[in-house]
Amino acid sequence: PETARATCDGQLLVGGVDLAELAGRFGTPVLAVDATDVRSRCRAYREALPGVEIAYAAKAFLCRAMARLVDQEGLAMDVCSGGEVAVAAAAGFPGERMMLHGNVKTDEDLKTALAVGVGRIVLDSLEEIPTLAAVVPTRQQVLLRVVPGVDAGTHAGLTTGTEDQKFGLSITTGAAAEAVRRVLARPELELVGLHCHIGSQVRSVRRYVDAAERMVAFLAEISREHGVELPQLDIGGGHAVAYGPDEQSLDLAAFGRTVPAAVAGACRWHGLQVPRLTVEPGRALVARAGVTVYRVAAVKHGVHRTFVAVDGGMSDNPRPALYGARYPVRRFGRPERVRSVPVTVVGRHCESSDVLAEETLLPEDIAAGDLLAVPCSGAYHASLSSTYNQVGRPPVVAVASGAAVPMLRRETVEDLLHRDAG
Ligand code: LLP
Repeated sequence: PETARATCDGQLLVGGVDLAELAGRFGTPVLAVDATDVRSRCRAYREALPGVEIAYAAKAFLCRAMARLVDQEGLAMDVCSGGEVAVAAAAGFPGERMMLHGNVKTDEDLKTALAVGVGRIVLDSLEEIPTLAAVVPTRQQVLLRVVPGVDAGTHAGLTTGTEDQKFGLSITTGAAAEAVRRVLARPELELVGLHCHIGSQVRSVRRYVDAAERMVAFLAEISREHGVELPQLDIGGGHAVAYGPDEQSLDLAAFGRTVPAAVAGACRWHGLQVPRLTVEPGRALVARAGVTVYRVAAVKHGVHRTFVAVDGGMSDNPRPALYGARYPVRRFGRPERVRSVPVTVVGRHCESSDVLAEETLLPEDIAAGDLLAVPCSGAYHASLSSTYNQVGRPPVVAVASGAAVPMLRRETVEDLLHRDAG
């Protein structure tokens, strides 16, 4: 985070809070989220993209305090289940500023979303059209998720804009055009725009331009065929974040200069009015604000490698196992007086793929009891966490101006037993 500070005696402060003290107070592992950092990134998005709607993708990290923060910063919210709707609504986040996504929306999801007066619903299949039309209390604003046929140039598991995948309706197969016809024929549904999302960890502004131009061409087709100009275009999220020094974030300023201008240019070319743009960043708003603190439990010197085992692992961070994600790791809490050596940081779970960092440098006197900090833990850590091996999920604590305020408490054995029907 922007407010992180390390001192020469090994102290590490985030948001003015000493992480060793935080570990002492909340135990380990613990996830600290720098609330000031999240707020400043929300503001940076609004400044870089004036006139563009910024919808926080709640799947990156959601709890009531987070929903309140997003609300205070004036953002909209992308939610993709009844659960996300309910948590945001419990924080007082207004339903009309929520947009419901998902390639599968259960009756329960729809019921919860409609009960809070969800602003827009993004339709993802032909089947959803009559299902939704049958249950909406009043005329419901909808968007159609369309496959732009653009490869985002990211990890295969994070690619969602190419043909032949589970999200959205294909222009190529005619499914998208068919969906437009069916939605326009339904008086219960008001088609306000198109949506696409090309993937996650996308570094290239060019790929967003390609996707947006494809969407504008389809808006022009709709206008020619039906005589309607749809007023909104949501080009999704997926803005890349650098997890380490050898990675690159998406250049927000370049995105802001380029993408809205490209959309306006394409609209002029097609003779269309310029739709209101929406972007849906999740990771880019919260990833860098989070730091996970672990305690070293054991150090083993193998024949070829040294293993440093910590008290968390794939249950609080499955990203290395899922996407081959790499994280820098740093020891703190005592001065660095010795040279660093390559070690493998592993978790506590009963899987050999439970590796948090492969061949990373740590001081050679690393020992049980030491504290380790893993940065860039704010997105898709808490939200992807599990209770594998019946290990309770770690607490999430907001740190700002020297104060630590719990957002989620540690999950206890009582919590785990609570849903056990006996
Ligand atoms: N909009 C839609 C429709 C999405 O599906 C997603 C992410 C986003 C926005 C936000 O993407 P972001 O800006 O956070 O990259 N678990 C993976 C990421 C999966 C993203 C799923 N959809 C990870 O840990 O890398």
